[in-house]
Amino acid sequence: MELQSREGWGTKAGFILAAVGSAVGLGNMWRFPYAAASSGGAAFVFLYILMVFLVGVPIMLSEFAVGRRSRLSPIGAMKATGGPRWVKLGYLYVLTGCLILAYYSVIAGWTMRYTLEALLSGFASDPGAYFTESSTGVGAVLYHIGFMALVMSIVVGGIKRGIERVSLVLMPVLFLLIIGLAIYAAFLGSSAVDGYGFYLQPHVGELFSTSTLSAAAAQAFFSLSLGMGAMLTYASYLQRDENLASSAVTISISDFGVAFLAGLVVFPVIFAFGLQGEVGASTLGTLFISLPRAFVDMGGAGRVVGLIFFSALFVGALTSGISLLEVVTSSLIDSSRLDRKVAALGAGAVILLVGIPCAYDLNVLGLFDAIAGELLLAVGALFLAYFVGYRMRDPREEVRKGFAHEGLISGWLWMVRVLAPIILAVVIWDRGRNVINIISSL
Ligand code: PHE
Repeated sequence: MELQSREGWGTKAGFILAAVGSAVGLGNMWRFPYAAASSGGAAFVFLYILMVFLVGVPIMLSEFAVGRRSRLSPIGAMKATGGPRWVKLGYLYVLTGCLILAYYSVIAGWTMRYTLEALLSGFASDPGAYFTESSTGVGAVLYHIGFMALVMSIVVGGIKRGIERVSLVLMPVLFLLIIGLAIYAAFLGSSAVDGYGFYLQPHVGELFSTSTLSAAAAQAFFSLSLGMGAMLTYASYLQRDENLASSAVTISISDFGVAFLAGLVVFPVIFAFGLQGEVGASTLGTLFISLPRAFVDMGGAGRVVGLIFFSALFVGALTSGISLLEVVTSSLIDSSRLDRKVAALGAGAVILLVGIPCAYDLNVLGLFDAIAGELLLAVGALFLAYFVGYRMRDPREEVRKGFAHEGLISGWLWMVRVLAPIILAVVIWDRGRNVINIISSL
């Protein structure tokens, strides 16, 4: 094995920020606020935090352990740590990564378009009509291509010079933008305050609903980039002695922080402009129609605030897109010894083509999201939990490096063996039904 020639992160901060970059993305600003507001408010947020710590962090740590032990991308990593039978899980991860990036890039393309237009000409005066016109068709395809081209150009640069460099600059910028926006939103006046109420009103009954629990868990996997080998791949570029447990906690808390703040921006802004009636039609509508409408109503300031908002969204999508392509690229490099450039461009081109139907039909996009973004992530995480919990040789030993709390390590292993599989089974059952419903209504 050519361990020596494998690239690695230049700094620990580089690894953490790249992983936070993978985690923070459309999931935080597109799905989280909406999921919270529509299913339980503060009760959802509570369940979400619970899921992040009871299942998310343990699964992330499992991905880290497999990635760092093998120092290979998913396909090679599963083979090296589990033998040939487990290679299939690596293939599932690569497939999931391709499917997610295919539709993710279409949505990211819209954010790119909105950002550019806010900059150059301002938001359209009728955001509803604008979204209908721009979200599908040739324009959507062109922005999808533009986004994929950017992602490919960064992944071609490799770990240190590509992904790490971009993350070290962009992630702090994103944090500042979103904090600035949340402060701004807090000063929008009394109707904005109702937005907080809408977002965080606790519906205690939801605490006991299986579908809310499963929605919170599925959201946690998507948001933390778990169940498809992104965290595994990033950890494969780590040094031997990094503290994996503290990294997993730092990454998860940062990801939650951005998601929570996004809700503190979206709802006050929408409520301040009396647009609450519009929220509820769809998650995408809230983001790409209601919010731009509020920005138009704000006048000149709205253009600046909107530009900042969509730039943040775009930056988040970009660093997440990079991690998705890196999973596929590094798998190609490890298993067929292709040159990084050829691997990244080839994988990117295939994903680009797979995404085109999503740029023509939002129902296809929704189906991709339900299958890959929800169901396959949970399936991928369940197999990994079983593998690390019952099949991997001495998983404790990998986590112990740089982290000397035997009690916590035992707790982690218990969660991976018992708790995570139970919750994942519920998610798979619930999200699987959702996929069947969507398919039968097509
Ligand atoms: N975590 C990203 C987001 O919230 C999406 C993602 C999922 C990225 C899976 C990589 C892997 O937008």
